[in-house]
Amino acid sequence: MLYDNHGRKINYLRLAVTDRCNLRCFYCMPEEGIQYVPRTELLSYEEMERLLKLLAPLGIEKVRITGGEPFLRKGMLDFLARIAQIEGIQQLNITTNGTLTANLVAKLPEIGVSSVNLSLDSFDEKRFFEITRRDVFPQVLETFHQLLAYKIPTKINAVVMAGKNIEDIIPLVELSRKHPVSIRFIEEMPFNGKGSNGETFIWNYKKILQHIKEVFPNLEKIPDPPHSTALNYQIPGFTGSIGIIAAYSRLFCGTCNRIRLTPQGMLKTCLYDAGVFNIRDLMRSGATDEQLITAFVQALRNRVKDGFEAERKRRPVRESMATIGG
Ligand code: GTP
Ligand code: 5AD
Ligand code: SF4
Repeated sequence: MLYDNHGRKINYLRLAVTDRCNLRCFYCMPEEGIQYVPRTELLSYEEMERLLKLLAPLGIEKVRITGGEPFLRKGMLDFLARIAQIEGIQQLNITTNGTLTANLVAKLPEIGVSSVNLSLDSFDEKRFFEITRRDVFPQVLETFHQLLAYKIPTKINAVVMAGKNIEDIIPLVELSRKHPVSIRFIEEMPFNGKGSNGETFIWNYKKILQHIKEVFPNLEKIPDPPHSTALNYQIPGFTGSIGIIAAYSRLFCGTCNRIRLTPQGMLKTCLYDAGVFNIRDLMRSGATDEQLITAFVQALRNRVKDGFEAERKRRPVRESMATIGG
């Protein structure tokens, strides 16, 4: 089993399968985009499968596929089907922007995908365009409807940004009235490809909560699942629930159960670290399975206590979330 030097059990891998994205969400990438990694530098499907087969027996039972946009990578469905079969992987989840997903939704349950987190920061087509810089709201809406139609457990991820989508908070909360989804409001983090944009960070979890309570004073706290990133709430009589993710305030580091692999094979033991070592290079230099396992175990022996410590130990955060996977 994988434990870190702070006694935290690691059972969750976030695997970013590509840094490419067909949106330009301003909290994630500059308008002109980012320098994409050459394809040969991406972990291949075979390399990712090898790593998962090594990590599952060590206790990694939950895998989340992220990006960039995962469905931009060719052969994604076949890859998902293969990794869902790996013994020990109990949950295979995806975080997607929903632009290319609608036609694939029907296939996800049979492949073995357990749930989908859909990034959607506004239900207003004009503001959606202002945030994502792409005119594809109808496609994302279609994905949302398909997820509901196929009863796939769904969470909506909305990054809260001053001056961009504050007026969307209440309409998004309203979605939980009739739909069995979790609507999650996320504090903005500085992973936008250029670094901090100071002012917008004023929408922290307390302010988001306060804003929702002004309209729904009967908002009730409900229990959080173990290792939850979100503080969870429900409005009495509503079908779905509300989550607030204090991603910038980093309230949940004490129970952090996750590691990350970037598209080019960098292991991150904290979202806020600069990467601990490159597992792709180790694999491509001919490392044995035992050597790879040792590398993971060693990295976890030197894990930071929390995201603040990780941030202190590096140059200022400025990479794009698309190169990390969120
Ligand atoms: P569940 O598996 O459904 O609990 O989802 P998740 O919250 O782990 O994943 P998701 O990809 O939906 O991420 C939602 C938001 O939480 C994103 O903005 C992530 O960047 C942020 N987030 C996820 N994991 C971490 C983490 O370990 N630290 C911090 N600070 N933020 C995180
Ligand atoms: N701050 C907070 N969350 C972000 N995400 C992407 N960039 C940021 C950011 N700068 C979220 C997306 C996606 C999840 C994986 O990360 O909304 O749902
Ligand atoms: Fe884990 Fe780092 Fe996120 Fe804290 S900030 S929960 S330590 S990944």
